[in-house]
Amino acid sequence: MTTKPAPTTVPVHELIAGRWSPRAYSSASISRDHLHAVLEAARWAPSSYNAQPWRFMVFDRSTDEVAFKQAFATLVPFNQDWNAPAPVLIAVTTQTLTSKGEVNRMAAYDAGAAAMSLVLQAHALGLAAHQMGGFDGAAFRTAFSIPDDVDVLSIISLGHYGDVEKLDPVLREREKSVRTRFPLGEIAYSGAWKKAF
Ligand SMILES: Cc1cc2nc3c(=O)[nH]c(=O)nc-3n(C[C@H](O)[C@H](O)[C@H](O)COP(=O)(O)O)c2cc1C
Repeated sequence: MTTKPAPTTVPVHELIAGRWSPRAYSSASISRDHLHAVLEAARWAPSSYNAQPWRFMVFDRSTDEVAFKQAFATLVPFNQDWNAPAPVLIAVTTQTLTSKGEVNRMAAYDAGAAAMSLVLQAHALGLAAHQMGGFDGAAFRTAFSIPDDVDVLSIISLGHYGDVEKLDPVLREREKSVRTRFPLGEIAYSGAWKKAF
């Protein structure tokens, strides 16, 4: 199962409607070119003052299994289960201070935009990518000596689509279920708070 297009109310670009968060991975490794491409896409994200506060840590099971296992161990058990075959994890971090040492209020916003570019590029390449907040941030910081002025925001798993039937029954059902969102009128307002678009 490689596609699960969003049932949008009007047509939107395939890249956006087609990106989703799969959980069935194969164990096939990701090529260096594909890794390069997803990181390059992230690199070209916009950011406040072009500060580019994002920093990505790539954990590739095929090239550094020790580091991969250390990162994998920080995932919560639920995420470890379905990520068992995943070949790559990418930690999304952001520098919270500007070059002048002031708090960058946009640091997380900018890194989130870069993460979205990364997963969209993954989708464009036919790869599966899944962002996760379910990891032990303190354990991750300790394992990789993350500096105090850096926030660890998420871990993205990246891989090739695998066999949905190998997922446990609950996740298999979730994988096949229709993707949902709040109605547009609930998330977009017209000129006044809560005045539905
Ligand atoms: C910041 C962030 C954190 C997430 N954390 C997890 C997670 O820990 N485990 C998980 O299975 N999915 C996680 N997800 C995936 C969401 O559940 C998923 O994006 C949402 O259900 C919408 O589905 P879609 O991406 O297929 O449209 C996360 C997504 C984002 C953006």
